[in-house]
Amino acid sequence: MDFNFSLVANSMPLLLEGAIVTIKITLISVGLGLFIGLFAGIARLAQFWPIRTLAAVYVDFIRGTPLLVQIFIMYFALPIITGMRVDPFIAAITACSINSGAYVAEIFRAGIESIDKGQMEAGRSLGMSWGQTMRYIIVPQAFKRVIPPLGNEFIAMLKDSSLVSVIGFEELTRRGQLIIARTYGSLEIWISVAFIYLIMTLTISRLVAYLERRYKIDDKY
Ligand code: ARG
Repeated sequence: MDFNFSLVANSMPLLLEGAIVTIKITLISVGLGLFIGLFAGIARLAQFWPIRTLAAVYVDFIRGTPLLVQIFIMYFALPIITGMRVDPFIAAITACSINSGAYVAEIFRAGIESIDKGQMEAGRSLGMSWGQTMRYIIVPQAFKRVIPPLGNEFIAMLKDSSLVSVIGFEELTRRGQLIIARTYGSLEIWISVAFIYLIMTLTISRLVAYLERRYKIDDKY
């Protein structure tokens, strides 16, 4: 067995470019996912049942079907209905954001439900509405508790974003495939790709651990 180190060195700039695209997809998707998820998570707890049901259907559908299939629907199936071709980047971001939103919704719902119900009662008895109490009392307290699971979601999305390589979107995994198609260096390239993912996920988990520690300190005061 021969491990061609110079192939690894020569491919690194191209792979790192792919890694930057991977980070971009992840940041945008989880960013939009946070936004969608916050609303969907609160909607799951709404007093008005149709809103609750709608949010539950969204979360169940997305979490109950593979992200890979959702990407295919976004890229190949939807254009048949709309008659418009979708750019792979738009399809990738849309599928990943909608997917992430459902996972984030459950994270927020659990975070909100973990806040003592006396907090809602206190807000209501002060004359605040359900929405105001959520916004000013409950959600700010829940934020701290959802940091670790949100960190996990970030890491999961970073790895799962490799699925968008199936629609030809050139992120890290796709870059690896393309280099192998030219060089036949499966061993060197897949090992390098794995290491680049590992470095990225380890960095995120350190960052999350740091944030957690910081918020713990704040708790004392
Ligand atoms: N692997 C799961 C799937 O294929 C989850 C994908 C997305 N993961 C996430 N945390 N948003 O459906």
